[in-house]
Amino acid sequence: MQSITIRQPDDWHLHFRDNEMLAETVPATARCFARAIVMPNLVPPVTNASLAMAYKERILAARPAGSQFEPLMTLYLTNETTPADITAAKAAGVTACKLYPAGATTNSDAAVKGISALYPVFEQMQKDGMLLLVHGEVTESHVDIFDREKVFIDQYMVKIVQDFPALKVVFEHITTGDAADFVLAHGANVGATITPQHLLLNRNDLLVGGVRPHNYCLPVLKRNTHQARLREVVAEGSKKFFLGTDSAPHAKHRKENACGCAGCYSAWSAIELYAEVFEQLNAMDKFEDFASNNGPDFYGLPRNEGTITLVKESWQVPELVTLADGTEMVPFFAGQTLNWKLA
Ligand code: DOR
Ligand code: ZN
Repeated sequence: MQSITIRQPDDWHLHFRDNEMLAETVPATARCFARAIVMPNLVPPVTNASLAMAYKERILAARPAGSQFEPLMTLYLTNETTPADITAAKAAGVTACKLYPAGATTNSDAAVKGISALYPVFEQMQKDGMLLLVHGEVTESHVDIFDREKVFIDQYMVKIVQDFPALKVVFEHITTGDAADFVLAHGANVGATITPQHLLLNRNDLLVGGVRPHNYCLPVLKRNTHQARLREVVAEGSKKFFLGTDSAPHAKHRKENACGCAGCYSAWSAIELYAEVFEQLNAMDKFEDFASNNGPDFYGLPRNEGTITLVKESWQVPELVTLADGTEMVPFFAGQTLNWKLA
């Protein structure tokens, strides 16, 4: 296969950050994605409708000339979130709410302690048709970091989907066979995003031959048997799994650091890397559904009208991306040669 044309895809999970960074991140995503679910973990976080709509305006202002790219906004749930906040957010056009267990990842200190306290909020979300996006990891220090997703499923996910059978729940950036099987075992209202890094890499790519900070993200890469199960489920083509890059830029010096930040900045290579995965899996016939159809179908949004074409042509991911203020970032797969290129 030398070229493939698919319906224009969307990115159902990413981090744009804010202010000057938007001049870098928004064009990088708008080069191929029509829409993106924008994570709310800014400092301070996006906790209500007016913050979300102001953020949306800043993103729209950073679009390249002529771009029709549409940011889909999310609210950051805290223990202070009220059912009235949900209704107001829905009315303002917010698409979904993000549940970060407190301390789970970058800028999540303000997030949710004690998930059962949020039940009135989930009730309202279920009623208003607001999606719940879950960072599914427990944060207790005694739980091994490689087990945190599985423990979250057992302690919380099972209960949330049982108690709110009509709530649409997206298990974000799943990393384990346990999470994939959990999603498959539940109804059509439970789906999941999968990142390029969790399909392409496993924890050896983080630790063998030296620590590789640019492969460090959360949830952390798991053992190869989990990677294999994720690859298997996307190759099988279930409607429940869809593209979410979790593209998450951090300055080079913040990642190459004694306490390095979590996140892979994949916007410049993500669609090409996914194509590579599906080709490796001999499942190019499932690529378009994963990238462009399953996501909007799950969210209840129209599929995009346009198309993109990828051609079989090698190119090298840049070693560095430099922002206008001189900040350097190392993109995901920096310096590596990819086989598919956006035409
Ligand atoms: O690796 C990650 N980076 N995982 C997340 O959940 C957050 C993200 C970020 O904001 O940097
Ligand atoms: Zn994320």
